[in-house]
Amino acid sequence: QPPSDARKPHRSPLPVGHRGASAYAPENTLAAVDKAHDLGIDWVENDVQRTKDGELLVIHDTTLSRTTDVEQRFPDRSPWKVSDFTLKEIKSLDAGSWLDSKFAGERIPTLGEYLDRLTRNGQDLLLELKSPALYPGIERETLDELDRQGWLDRRHTRSRLIVQSFDKGAVQKVHQQRPEVKTGFLGTPKAAELKDYAAFADQINPTHADATADYVKAVHALKGPHHKPMEIFTWTVNDAETARKVADAGVDGIISNKPDVVSDAVQES
Ligand code: G3P
Ligand code: CA
Repeated sequence: QPPSDARKPHRSPLPVGHRGASAYAPENTLAAVDKAHDLGIDWVENDVQRTKDGELLVIHDTTLSRTTDVEQRFPDRSPWKVSDFTLKEIKSLDAGSWLDSKFAGERIPTLGEYLDRLTRNGQDLLLELKSPALYPGIERETLDELDRQGWLDRRHTRSRLIVQSFDKGAVQKVHQQRPEVKTGFLGTPKAAELKDYAAFADQINPTHADATADYVKAVHALKGPHHKPMEIFTWTVNDAETARKVADAGVDGIISNKPDVVSDAVQES
């Protein structure tokens, strides 16, 4: 008879660099990818949107203001939406100085450039389709770019790529268009609704306040579209105490601006 407090051993959750290692380098840039790599972090999360001329770009906000010098460079182009600028215009912006002058001249990467850097570094990707309702067809275009860059081969689809979104319809489209790709839904569907999500999502990825042991158990009890127990990656956890808490709750991945802090915390616990 095992002691009553015996817990089933589980693997440590995977640390994922949120927008790269974004506490230390400008979010969603190649510098943030490289910083994660330098810290020994294999997985990074990013956000994908589209320019006016149809190029896929890695950026979180739907406007360029917070993370570039666009307001100085193009003062008459308010509200500085990503979708109102061409790739050439966006490539002329400084996407590093806002964080620290040592990153001056950092550029917003295209999805192609971003994937190329991950491949060179041997890193893996949790790709978020950000506000896809603003960009009709972005699901197909993103999958096509992943395919062109060799990210839809068996090696990648088995264990190196997950496509996620807050937009349920976008996750469903990705699953329908390329069923071999692992997908995640960002949010916290009610436990009773999880079964519907299991038809098209391999992961349910809630904010950390919702990643309780009971919720993790409810997610793990279901099998996703690839006939494996659904997983749960939670966000955005930037301190050791919260990392240990969600690790104890049983999550499979922890998305963090400081993935090194998370990595250390969950290995100690
Ligand atoms: O991957 C989870 C997290 O990135 C979702 O929120 O706003 O940072 O894209 P946000
Ligand atoms: Ca994101």
